[in-house]
Amino acid sequence: MQRFDLDQDRLPPGAEILFYDPGVWEEYWAAILLAFPIILLQSSTIIGLGVLEKRRRRAAAELAQQRAEVARLSRVSQLGELSGAIAHELKQPLTSILMNAESGRALLRQSPPDLREIAEILEDIANDDRRAAGVIDNLRKLLGEGAPDFQPVELNDVVRATLRLIRSELIARSVRTDLKLCEAALIATGNAEQLQQVLLNLIFNATDGMADQPRKTRRISIETTLRTDGMREVSVTDTGPGLPEAVRDAAFQPFVTTKAHGMGLGLSISRTIAEAHGGQLHVDGAASKTRAILALPAP
Ligand SMILES: Nc1ncnc2c1ncn2[C@@H]1O[C@H](COP(=O)(O)OP(=O)(O)OP(=O)(O)O)[C@@H](O)[C@H]1O
Ligand SMILES: [Mg+2]
Repeated sequence: MQRFDLDQDRLPPGAEILFYDPGVWEEYWAAILLAFPIILLQSSTIIGLGVLEKRRRRAAAELAQQRAEVARLSRVSQLGELSGAIAHELKQPLTSILMNAESGRALLRQSPPDLREIAEILEDIANDDRRAAGVIDNLRKLLGEGAPDFQPVELNDVVRATLRLIRSELIARSVRTDLKLCEAALIATGNAEQLQQVLLNLIFNATDGMADQPRKTRRISIETTLRTDGMREVSVTDTGPGLPEAVRDAAFQPFVTTKAHGMGLGLSISRTIAEAHGGQLHVDGAASKTRAILALPAP
């Protein structure tokens, strides 16, 4: 009544008021008509987003798989390219096994033979054999799906272990070695075999560089330090002639060598290893001596 502005008193007597209850449709038809396309739009948006998300996930999975495959193939091709490197890394232990076996034979001819010396030589041979096996092992890991084994390594230990391996070779080449190891343990995350490989390459470069100078002047200094920026540094400095002018800018490129029997791979392999450890390898050879610096990040 209120709605139609009618006064109750003005109704004729006997008039009956009947109420009509409109249905939901009648009352809300406009809202329903408006809501319907909105709901339709929203559901199609949700379905669309779901499909897009599914596609995105599938694409991401495919991309990850492709990346892994590319990474594996690039490792394989790197190894293909570096087939020389395999020979290079195996040549060192094999040469020293041969040298040690020959010295052992010479010692056996003495009478009486120096059994202690012979025992040491046999130990060296066993160590070199393990090193060769380690090289093959690492290459296999590099070729496989997984990354090479990275663990906490103590760099002073790596230096000592490397020197133990080539002790007899350094003596044979009349090279004196000074060790300046930092007193605290110098821990980095890495692969001890590969880091040894880097050190061996640097030490052999140093000794090769000094081969033509008088025996008394052939010296290598190996130093380990914890830098103020947290990097762990291992350096090999020699008293040789410095990097030859011809290779000064290209020493790290594969197959660049000034040696008759060099492969020119030592520095390039070593830098690859350093970078795989998140570190760097530099050689400062402008002066009359060469200093190679390996820097590795904190674990
Ligand atoms: N300590 C050094 N003193 C003088 N020259 C060096 C030194 N280190 C590297 N070089 C120069 O850099 C070149 C490249 O070194 P790298 O170790 O890559 O190859 P290589 O020693 O010639 O051969 P490989 O290591 O494969 O047997 C060497 O041929 C040499 O001329
Ligand atoms: Mg070399």
